[in-house]
Amino acid sequence: MLAEKDFIATSYNTIDSASFEWSAPSNIALVKYWGKKENQIPANPSISFTLNNCKTITKLDVVKKSENSSFSFDLLFEGKPKEDFKPKIQKFFERIEKYCPFLKEYHFKIDTQNTFPHSSGIASSASGMAALAMNIMSLEKAINPAISDDYFYSKASFLARLGSGSACRSIKGEVVVWGNHVQINGSSDLFGVEFSEIHSNFKNYQDTILLVDKGEKQVSSTVGHDLMHNHPYAERRFAQAHENLSQIKTLLSSGNVEEFIKIVESEALTLHAMMMTSMPYFILMKPNTLEIINKIWKFRDETQIPVCFTLDAGANVHVLYPENVKENVLQFIQDELVGYCQNGQYICDQIGNGANQLK
Ligand code: DP6
Repeated sequence: MLAEKDFIATSYNTIDSASFEWSAPSNIALVKYWGKKENQIPANPSISFTLNNCKTITKLDVVKKSENSSFSFDLLFEGKPKEDFKPKIQKFFERIEKYCPFLKEYHFKIDTQNTFPHSSGIASSASGMAALAMNIMSLEKAINPAISDDYFYSKASFLARLGSGSACRSIKGEVVVWGNHVQINGSSDLFGVEFSEIHSNFKNYQDTILLVDKGEKQVSSTVGHDLMHNHPYAERRFAQAHENLSQIKTLLSSGNVEEFIKIVESEALTLHAMMMTSMPYFILMKPNTLEIINKIWKFRDETQIPVCFTLDAGANVHVLYPENVKENVLQFIQDELVGYCQNGQYICDQIGNGANQLK
């Protein structure tokens, strides 16, 4: 089992220049990460579906430089310089330098783009940090070809976690667990691990993301996580996440979609309940979020079609359902839910396999 100290690169060469390119997807948590300790250690374990279509594509050009006293990088978003993303990258480099001491030896050109609209309210930090971490691991592999595949992917997830917690679940697919859990072999607070005992009922599971509100969130995830310190229900919530993960593990393996739905929806509402009961308290759902939830419940009741919802830290609704009811559910979305989406917008996605090397 890899420990923190194993991720410190010690022996490596140098190269003059290189180019890499990776895509990494977004992911949607089923059991949610909400609350963390120092150094991006989660307060409870989480599990997610890796998505397929919502991705960040990042190209990294690396050139050896003569002085190595500071980090040096240019950042392009959709081909144009993007100054406001730079502090986040600077902070990421600072956090990972201990594990990648070679970073200051190079100048980086980071060229990044998303397959989903930038202002869609879909968090790009998970896919973005995962794609950047993969590129940095390609550099590490270039200067130390001896590293194994297992180490490569585990360290990519470890680095991505230091950029944004949920990003560590975007390296692999189709289902990833992050955080120590007694019943999941190899699970770790330091990086995500693939959970592979999945029943065919969950094969190609669908996620249609309804864009309810594309505006800037009034409270960032980082602030939200922080409010779990001294939260009156924190300890009970963290224990519940362990229990829900035990249950969902069994349900994913046995293919019990009905019971899966109960855990997933309860997790989504619990996440938002934590926000509503923190101090200061806040609400990220919008009236249309609730309209959609009620419509989904009514449709499920009337048709017995196993469709459910989950939420991330925002107003958008992820509609989850098995592939074999896709036609019915898309028709339902068209007929009854599109009216609650901003400009009628939604994104069709499904479970995917994780990061992909393009160059
Ligand atoms: C509600 O990973 O965005 O989506 O580690 O501060 O970057 P930081 O937080 P982030 O939090 C995601 C929270 C969530 C739940 C989840 O994805 O598990």
